[in-house]
Amino acid sequence: MEAIWIQGGNQLAGNIAIYGAKNSALKLMAAALLTDQPCRLDNVPDIRDVRLMVQILEGMGVQVRREGESLLIEAKELGTEVPPEPVREMRAGIQVMGPVVARKGRIRIFQPGGCSLGPRPIDFHLRGLEAMGARVREEHGFIVVEAERLRGTDIYLDFPSVGATENLMMAAVLAEGTTVIHNAAREPEIGDAEKFLNQCGARVSGAGTGVIRVEGVTSLQGTSYQVMPDRIEAATFLIAAAAAGADLTLRPAPVVHLEAVLAKLSQIGVDWESPDPMTLRVRSQGALAEGYRPVHVRALPYPGFPTDVQPQITALLTLARGTSIVTDEVHAARFGYAGELRRMGAQIWVEGRTAVIKGCSHLTGARVTAPDLRGGAALIVAALAAEGESLIEGVVHLDRGYARLEERLRQVGARICRLEV
Ligand code: EPU
Repeated sequence: MEAIWIQGGNQLAGNIAIYGAKNSALKLMAAALLTDQPCRLDNVPDIRDVRLMVQILEGMGVQVRREGESLLIEAKELGTEVPPEPVREMRAGIQVMGPVVARKGRIRIFQPGGCSLGPRPIDFHLRGLEAMGARVREEHGFIVVEAERLRGTDIYLDFPSVGATENLMMAAVLAEGTTVIHNAAREPEIGDAEKFLNQCGARVSGAGTGVIRVEGVTSLQGTSYQVMPDRIEAATFLIAAAAAGADLTLRPAPVVHLEAVLAKLSQIGVDWESPDPMTLRVRSQGALAEGYRPVHVRALPYPGFPTDVQPQITALLTLARGTSIVTDEVHAARFGYAGELRRMGAQIWVEGRTAVIKGCSHLTGARVTAPDLRGGAALIVAALAAEGESLIEGVVHLDRGYARLEERLRQVGARICRLEV
């Protein structure tokens, strides 16, 4: 089993290049199934979730080839049976549902399991497809969705779900007539999907607002598209720098997509600047020397504070001077890492969707386990700022979303490496 070893207390200095966004790349890979022509996606991070999505596509007969930072996808062949193993491991596998039903009239896919962020049903995805005329049934743990041709309609989401918005938007592209998705998610990655789809000949508008309109077309063509930079990865490095102490520059960092995070960091007292719209620089003496202020954080759908940065900022707040409150309104149970932070000396109590954090004067290195991807990132932040050595197990979770994490942190001065334990 692999683990990440960190000797805390080293200041970080230099530049980190931000990779393409996981949560956009995965959806664009699914969107490429809407056409039988080749698509080229540039700036696709080499992470485990992308590899799982490649397995899903290949399992359906699609040709996928990696060339450096790019993925070439050609869905001339497209089966309707989704291989169950990668879907069991990665919920984002269900994003192929909309495109495959739209193009092939059928899909059979394993019901994605609940995961450690709380119950994560897919009822909005299924209800939306049903509203478009699809028949949905469950058999032996699989979901079968069938429709001769989907029909455009008005869809109302109970919650602005990112995945449901994207799945239904992609399904609607090849539907007959116009689909309007109300209470749509407004995350920037949805704008990336809209641009990609329109470049392929789709007619989608409204991404970034709560109402998305899709006029169906009969076919799409292939295209070449550059995946947007990962705002969550940028936020993770930013917070790690604020905690450990640093003079660190991140680029390309989509400043406009990080406004809620940057506002909160300013409130905490983190010194950051943005010399241009794609660059962020953070200067810090480290949490202990800076005497950061406690704050209240509410993770909400975009443009609210991102739930995917909630664990990392909580780790930083364990070192603030006073009591902070962090609430997650998106995922029901995203504090699986709190007990691990406690092993490092953090004072943190969780009740339902809320954590209360009493800032302490220092953390001490410990042997801990990443419970999930961003929970693992929180432990990295804490370990970089802690006194002494930490060993973080559960590295497989970190590998889902961060490429070459240790190497990139080592290059800016962190004492970090991967070990067999
Ligand atoms: N929900 C339902 N029914 C549904 C769909 C969602 O009840 O049919 C609920 C979920 O249980 C959750 C809330 O709605 O409580 C929001 O879920 P959403 O559908 O927006 O999340 P997602 O599409 O499954 C994506 C990201 C997550 C990120 C969330 C919220 C990808 C691949 N994943 O998930 O990213 O937390 O949006 O922003 O895009 C991560 O990167 O670490 C990660 C978990």
